[in-house]
Amino acid sequence: MDMQQLHPDRSHEAPIFMQLYRRYREAINTGKLRPGDRVPSVRSLASELNLARGTVERAYQMLTSEGYFLARGPAGTVISPGLPSLAKPAATTPSKVSGKAAARPTSVASGHPRPLQLGLPALDAFPRKTWVRLAGRHLRSLDGAAMSYPDAQGQQSLRRAIAAYLGVSRGIACAHEQVFVTAGYRGALELICRTLLKPGEVGWVEDPGYLFARQFLEYAGMQLTPVPVDEEGMEVATGQQLAAKAGFAVVTPTHQSPLGMAMSLPRRLQLLDWASRNRAWVIEDDYDSEFRYHGQPLPPLKSLDRDGRVLYTGTFSKVLFPGLRLAYLIVPTSQVERFRNSANQLGGPGSPQQQATVADFMEQGHFARHLRRMRSLYAARRGYLVDALLQQFDDRLQIQSQAGGIHLLAKLTRRESDRTLAQAAQSDGLAIAALSQWQVRRSGHGGLLMGFANVTDAAMAQTLARRLQAAFQSR
Ligand SMILES: Cc1ncc(COP(=O)(O)O)c(C=O)c1O
Repeated sequence: MDMQQLHPDRSHEAPIFMQLYRRYREAINTGKLRPGDRVPSVRSLASELNLARGTVERAYQMLTSEGYFLARGPAGTVISPGLPSLAKPAATTPSKVSGKAAARPTSVASGHPRPLQLGLPALDAFPRKTWVRLAGRHLRSLDGAAMSYPDAQGQQSLRRAIAAYLGVSRGIACAHEQVFVTAGYRGALELICRTLLKPGEVGWVEDPGYLFARQFLEYAGMQLTPVPVDEEGMEVATGQQLAAKAGFAVVTPTHQSPLGMAMSLPRRLQLLDWASRNRAWVIEDDYDSEFRYHGQPLPPLKSLDRDGRVLYTGTFSKVLFPGLRLAYLIVPTSQVERFRNSANQLGGPGSPQQQATVADFMEQGHFARHLRRMRSLYAARRGYLVDALLQQFDDRLQIQSQAGGIHLLAKLTRRESDRTLAQAAQSDGLAIAALSQWQVRRSGHGGLLMGFANVTDAAMAQTLARRLQAAFQSR
């Protein structure tokens, strides 16, 4: 693309950085610039167009933070290779997606982060320098123990750090022997399936509930009974009516995924009572309890577990970053031996050096500091997105006030298909998801799920909200 085509019009009322930003977007949308194409450096474009470097920088920052550009450091900036082909959105119009294709398992978003992507923490605010320093030390030392077979249960230093952290922050009294480090949450589910459950075993899952847990458990051969959730969390009595003899239940009691409410104390006690009487297992997925913006979280189910029926899981994906692929599972003392045997068969979570880095990060206080900083940062970023959506959509969307987490649920107030809207947004590169995809039984209006952790300021939130509006209108 000829640089002169980017020449801004000084008589135009839009600021120059905004004109530059729009020209690039248009060039990408019309296919003049394609994923992987290099863009000129800030310095050379500024000098070619006779603009201040700060002006070009501002446009580039917006394009990068919205996922159009990918900055590769000294290797230069390119149009994001992960961008879908925006030149031909018609090829993916939602109405043409067949029922069969829609039923195919959805995979967790991978590759380059996209705007509003669910499950991604603030990548710009991660303390990279500290991390690289700690990781570098382990890489350089590369002693015999680091080169030998690692403990399949996870590095002992990390298991101790996790046990100490849970004791202080979640009131869970456990020893490091009960902690199993796993390759993400699905690694924990796999360990549970292999150790305690039989293929074909019946289990309750929340409806709506975390899509990827449901998909994994089905893949692992479990027979799932979707149990509705209301404002108190999973309806345990309905679960008992539908499948009283189920062998397990998977719940997100602290912050229901994706609706966001906490499971009430009576429901928690009811669930634990059912599990104890039926010798069933409760899998507690405490995936984002670290982030809470108002009110006190209830203690985890695990802290009420008198009979050893709760398998507690947590993940480093939201508190550190998902590329680590590290999560953990706390098992009742009575089950430690069985879990150790399975972990030895399955081979463990790998990468002892990464685990040692996480352990140092926790022990040296960086983890607690990072969480404290992220809590206030996320409260602000959440506010930017909520304000921008309310301004842009008025009463077409109703934002659910969630007490915590790093995603928002915007309920549709009209009878519109959330899948159609989500696909229209996805064709424009926005990674939002449809609530109905996380639901087995359709009920009520649909909704849109979006991650706010990488919405860095109010201007970016407004741009994203406008893009969303334009994508909805274009469908
Ligand atoms: C409800 C829920 N559980 C668990 C996880 C953690 O998954 P993982 O550890 O595989 O990243 C997530 C991540 O997005 C989640 O949303």
